[in-house]
Amino acid sequence: MKRVDDFRLRFGDKQYVPIMIGGMGVDISTSELALEAARLGGIGHISDAMVEDVSDRRFDTTFVKEKTKLYKFNINNMDKAVVQFDLGRLAEAQRLHIGRTMEQKKGPGLIFVNCMEKLTMNGPRETLRVRLNAALDAGIDGITLSAGLHFNSFGLMADHPRFRDAKLGIIVSSVRALQIFLRKNQKLDRLPDYVIVEGPLAGGHLGFGLDDWQNYDLHTITGEVLAYLKAEQLDIPVIAAGGVFTGSDAVSFLEMGAAGVQVATRFTITKECGLPDKVKQEYIRATEDDIIVNGISPTGYPMRMLRSTPAIGTNTRPGCESYGYLLDATGNCAYINSYNREVVANGGSDKGIKVMDKTCLCTHMRNFNCWTCGHYTYRLKDTTHKLPNGEYQLLTAEHVFKDYQFSTDNRIALPPKEEEAACV
Ligand SMILES: Cc1cc2nc3c(=O)[nH]c(=O)nc-3n(C[C@H](O)[C@H](O)[C@H](O)COP(=O)(O)O)c2cc1C
Repeated sequence: MKRVDDFRLRFGDKQYVPIMIGGMGVDISTSELALEAARLGGIGHISDAMVEDVSDRRFDTTFVKEKTKLYKFNINNMDKAVVQFDLGRLAEAQRLHIGRTMEQKKGPGLIFVNCMEKLTMNGPRETLRVRLNAALDAGIDGITLSAGLHFNSFGLMADHPRFRDAKLGIIVSSVRALQIFLRKNQKLDRLPDYVIVEGPLAGGHLGFGLDDWQNYDLHTITGEVLAYLKAEQLDIPVIAAGGVFTGSDAVSFLEMGAAGVQVATRFTITKECGLPDKVKQEYIRATEDDIIVNGISPTGYPMRMLRSTPAIGTNTRPGCESYGYLLDATGNCAYINSYNREVVANGGSDKGIKVMDKTCLCTHMRNFNCWTCGHYTYRLKDTTHKLPNGEYQLLTAEHVFKDYQFSTDNRIALPPKEEEAACV
C-alpha cells in the first residue's frame, strides 16, 4: 500500500514532499505554518489578504490607522470611491510580510503566497500589480493566483526580473477555466508552473454555484484536467485540493497522476494556525450539520463556514475607510448595498438591524469572526484527544504534515497526549 512519501512533486530538477498547505486569509495560514511546511520539505502558503492589517499586527506598522485618519471624513458616506489604497504603502506592507517570512525560511521546501484576485481594493489592476511585483521583490518562492482569477494577471508582472524564475500557479475549479487561462496567456510564452484544482469541499470561497456545488466531485475534475493537459502535451503539475483529509485520500489523487495535494482544514487546529484558540475549539466541536455553504460573502462566490459564524446577521458599519479590500473598481461592495437597504428600512438608523444576506467580510475576517472552514471540519475531532476539561488538544503542524506524509489505510495518527488544556 502506497503512502504520500512514495511520491515527489517535481519542479524542474527539484523535488518536494507533494503536500501544499493552502493559503488561508486573513493570516490564518500564518508565516509560522508555512515555515513548518517548508522545513518539512513541502510547500507552505502565506496569504496577502488584508496585508496592511497583517503587517500592523505583526510588525507594529500603522498602515490601517493612517488610512482611517486620511479617510475619516468619508465614514458616513456610503460612496467609497475616494477611499484609495496608497500603492507605495501597499508595496511596503507586502514586502514586510513576505520578506520577513522568507528571511526565516529553513529546510528544503518552498513558501508561496496566495493572492486572492477578488480583493479588488478600489483599483483592481494597479493594486494587484503592486501586490504581485512586491511579492517577487521580497523573494517569495511562488505565487498562487486564487479566487477571482483574471486572465491577464501574469502580464502584470511580466517585466519583473523574477517573472520566469519564481513559481507561478493558478487555482481553477474546472477544465474550462484552465483552458481560457492558457489561451489568454499564450502570447506571454509563460505557462503556469502548477495548477491547483480545487473541488467543492474546500474551505474559503468556492468556484461553484451556491445551488450546484454538490453536483461536482474533485476526482472527476482532476481527471478532466489531467486528460486535457495530456492531450495538449502540456507538462504542468496538477495539485488536487478540497476534502483531502487523510494520507490515503492524497494517495488516491497521486496515483491518478496528480503531482501533489493542497490541504488546509486539518491544519486549522494546529498551534501554528492563526485562528484564536477558542475558534479552533469551535472547529473541532462542529458536527456535520454545523457546516454550511452560503452567499454572505460580498465577493459573489459561495463560501463555506460554520453555522454559528458571528459574522452572519450583524449590523457592522462598512469599514472601508480602514480596510476596503473588497471595493470594486467603482468603489462599491455588495455589503454596502445590503447594509444601506436595512438602514433605510429601519428609518435611517442601524440600531438593532441584522444584515442577513451579506457580511462585512473585511471586518469579520480581520477579527476572526467569519469561521470559514472545509467540508470535513466535522471530522477534526477524530484527529485529536479530548481533554479532561472538555476542550480538545491542539496539534502541531509537524504532526499533521507527517500524518499526511506517512499514514496508510485511511488511518489518522493521534498526537502524544498533552496533560495541560490546550485552550482555557
Ligand atoms: C479557514 C480556511 C481559509 C481559507 N482561505 C483561503 C483563501 O484565503 N484563499 C484561497 O485561495 N483559499 C482559501 N482556502 C482554501 C484552501 O487554501 C484549500 O485549497 C482548501 O481548503 C483545501 O481543502 P481542505 O480544507 O479540505 O483540506 C481556505 C480554507 C480554509 C479551511
